[in-house]
Amino acid sequence: MHQSVLEVIGNTPLVKVNSGLPGNLFAKLEYLNPGGSVKDRTALFMIEQAEKDGKLKPGGTLIDASSGNHGIAIAMIGALKGYNVIITVSEKSSAEKVNAIKAYGAQVVVCPATAFLDHPDSYHSQAQKIFSQTPNAFMPNQYYNVNNSQGHYSFLGPEIYKQTNGKITHFFAGAGTGGTVSGVGRFLKEQNQTIQIIAVDSINSWHATGGCPKPYKVEGMGLDFETPVFDETVIDEIATVSDENAIGMLKILACKHGILAGPSSGAVAWAAQDYLQKHKPVNMLGVMIFGDSGRAYLTKEFYE
Ligand SMILES: Cc1ncc(COP(=O)(O)O)c(C=O)c1O
Repeated sequence: MHQSVLEVIGNTPLVKVNSGLPGNLFAKLEYLNPGGSVKDRTALFMIEQAEKDGKLKPGGTLIDASSGNHGIAIAMIGALKGYNVIITVSEKSSAEKVNAIKAYGAQVVVCPATAFLDHPDSYHSQAQKIFSQTPNAFMPNQYYNVNNSQGHYSFLGPEIYKQTNGKITHFFAGAGTGGTVSGVGRFLKEQNQTIQIIAVDSINSWHATGGCPKPYKVEGMGLDFETPVFDETVIDEIATVSDENAIGMLKILACKHGILAGPSSGAVAWAAQDYLQKHKPVNMLGVMIFGDSGRAYLTKEFYE
């Protein structure tokens, strides 16, 4: 028995996904968190850190930009802790994620999908503007706050290491803010330098295109700006994946493995399989982060 949903964040299962290639790959089903994504842990960590530091006071307002999942986590935690919540999203975010944020009683501001995060119309710039105009407000600022990766360093990294009895050899995670791959990566490298950390990016992102980003469909993932949250010193490889390959993998995950995952999970699974084909690692125990559920994208027709 638990006193609140906050107590059931984390301890998500690791499930084997047989790719048909030599090497063991396990999916970390982060969509089984109460808010439905990998973002529950970091949202809670950043909010509780701000409470401890006195930056967030009772009755305050939480404001942040999100591709959807961080916003859902903030809205869920804000509802429980009695904070007002305002989330800015880009028009690219799925209707399911936007409606979930609203269902927790939060306000959503939909902004144009700009190529650059520092564009004045971007959802990040708009969140900063609302924050500057709102009294008694706190902005977790997931895109630039290193407590984002620190949350994963403190919780998700140790959880994965323990679940694999320290035998993990490869870690694959989609990089959006870069918090997951950097925080978990740093923890794993501290345990064993030989563990390979693979960040998964969109082939069209700012980083992958050398500063000339093109639109892409995968949500949440994609290195589109420079940030201290993404710590390249713990990353061994950045794998880039096209929308076609990420979305193509979703059907295989659902119809063959019974895992209805979101597009960033499709990208991660495709990148892991590609890695197996290219590197043919021996005695591999790979962990892939499946960041959210396919249920958040059913209206996007990715599964048809
Ligand atoms: C479904 C999903 N996968 C992956 C990511 C990327 O995680 P991070 O921001 O920690 O790099 C996100 C971020 O929003 C996400 O929502």
